Amino acid sequence: MDDMVAELGAFKGKRVLVTGDTGFKGSWLSLWLHLLGADVMGYALPPEDEEQLFVILNLDQVITHVDGDIRNLEKMSQVFQEFQPEFVFHLAAQSLVRRSYEDPKLTTDTNIGGSVNVLEAVRATPSIRSLIFVTSDKCYRNNEWIWGYRENDALGGHDPYSASKAAAEIIFSSYVDSFFYQRRNLGISSVRAGNVIGGGDRATDRIVPDIIRALEADQPIVLRNPGARRPWQHVLEPLYGYMLLAVKQYREPEKYSGSWNFGPRIESIRTVEELTREMLGCWGKGSIKIASASNAPHEAGLLNLNCDKANQVLEWWPRWDFTNTIARTVEWYKGVADGLSAEHLIKRQIQEFSGGM
Ligand SMILES: NC(=O)c1ccc[n+]([C@@H]2O[C@H](COP(=O)([O-])OP(=O)(O)OC[C@H]3O[C@@H](n4cnc5c(N)ncnc54)[C@H](O)[C@@H]3O)[C@@H](O)[C@H]2O)c1
Repeated sequence: MDDMVAELGAFKGKRVLVTGDTGFKGSWLSLWLHLLGADVMGYALPPEDEEQLFVILNLDQVITHVDGDIRNLEKMSQVFQEFQPEFVFHLAAQSLVRRSYEDPKLTTDTNIGGSVNVLEAVRATPSIRSLIFVTSDKCYRNNEWIWGYRENDALGGHDPYSASKAAAEIIFSSYVDSFFYQRRNLGISSVRAGNVIGGGDRATDRIVPDIIRALEADQPIVLRNPGARRPWQHVLEPLYGYMLLAVKQYREPEKYSGSWNFGPRIESIRTVEELTREMLGCWGKGSIKIASASNAPHEAGLLNLNCDKANQVLEWWPRWDFTNTIARTVEWYKGVADGLSAEHLIKRQIQEFSGGM
């Protein structure tokens, strides 16, 4: 545990730019970086409503946030130029599979076009020494097999979201081969994680927020796809992976630059119904209703990541098992519903996860 504190201490006093800081993962990451003493600048669309974690945590008071669209290259480049970051975490995206069926153009414009703009802004900013480019576990061509996908497996995507993330990976790799290979002091990696859960996610059409909304409203939880098996992990797990990688590639770009999977241990691959029952147990009440999925858009049956590379090369391992992950997630929502401070709960979880700071 002390290793984590020592490694992440490298962020102290560093300028770190986070795209997508108003989102679920971006809010956790920005707060954690701030707690580590980094000077954090966020660039993203404004929070969608008052329920968003970014708003609840009053994050705009502890980091510098600029409302902006990653599709606007001029505005984003200006932010990069003025801030001169040393680290960049690119998380901004249209992140929902269902919304990608409703608006495939917005999804591809944002996730492909916007990501190209981020790469352009990085290209024009020599101060940057470490870029973490977030895509998804869904960037792999899903063969519906039991084996975990490795970083060198084929990319692909059935739905527009998955396809946009696979395309972003291909563009990323072309920028590395065409331009960034010349910048010997730049560490640059794409990172692939999935099914991240934790307190404060309020997205629509994501299973944990959907369950919480039903529990808060005393309604039965409607499951469309109860048998779908997913590798569940707490949001702190991949974020720790991204930060550890960012620091290591900053120091040794040649050794650590590349593509990396961050997923949970095999015991955390559970069905949607198992996840729901575990959450109900922690919440203390609630019921489940199974809905017909006949008209629902296509959803992957199983998608599992092989994380041998992160385990062996980065020495990154998941810290919280499935039971603990669910307990921490429910603890946050229940605590906030009972009037506890969202910020206090998150800070405590970060502290417990990292063993002090
Ligand atoms: N949450 C998950 O389970 C999960 C799984 C795999 C990959 N990811 C990826 O991780 C990243 C963060 O996910 P999240 O769960 O925090 O998503 P989120 O939807 O909660 O947040 C998305 C963020 O991107 C910003 N954004 C969207 N469109 C933008 C635009 N055009 N210009 C500027 N900002 C824009 C939003 O304002 C927000 O800050 C995304 O790239 C997502 O695809 C998430």
